[in-house]
Amino acid sequence: MRVRTRQGVLATAPPVVLCALLALAGPAIAAGGGDTQAELWAAGCAACHGTHGASVGGFPSLAGRDASELLALMLKQRAGQADSTIMHQHARGFSESELARIAAVFAARPKP
Ligand code: HEC
Repeated sequence: MRVRTRQGVLATAPPVVLCALLALAGPAIAAGGGDTQAELWAAGCAACHGTHGASVGGFPSLAGRDASELLALMLKQRAGQADSTIMHQHARGFSESELARIAAVFAARPKP
C-alpha cells in the first residue's frame, strides 16, 4: 500500500511540474510572438543578416523594421524584380504567408 501511494505521487508529479513550467513560460512566449516555426526560419537568416537580424557586416539589418516593408522587399526578390545577388534564392524558398511570418518576427525585434 505504501509503495503504491509513492508510485501514485511520482506518476502525477511530472504533469504538475510541466503545467507550472508552461505557466511561467507563457508570458515569454507571448512576448516573442509565439510563432516558433517562423523563429526557426528566421534563425537561418542570421549567417548573413546577423544574430536576431542585427547585421554587423555589409548585409542589411532586418531587426525592428516595418514588417510590410520587409515583406514587400522579399516578394520583389522572390519575383525576380529586385536587384539581388543571392536574396532571390532565399525568398523563393518560402511562400508569401511564410515570408509574412518571418517579416513579423524581425519587425518585433529591437532595432540595432
Ligand atoms: C547568404 C546570405 C543571406 C541569407 C542567408 C539571407 N539573406 Fe537576405 N539578403 C542578402 C543580401 C546579399 C541582400 C541584399 C540583396 C542581394 O544582393 O541579394 C539581402 C537582402 C534582404 C532583404 C532586403 C533588405 C533591404 O533593406 O533591401 C531582406 C528583407 C532580407 N534579405 C531578408 C532575409 C531573410 C528573412 C532571410 C532568411 C529567411 C535572409 N534574408 C537570408 C543575403 C542573405
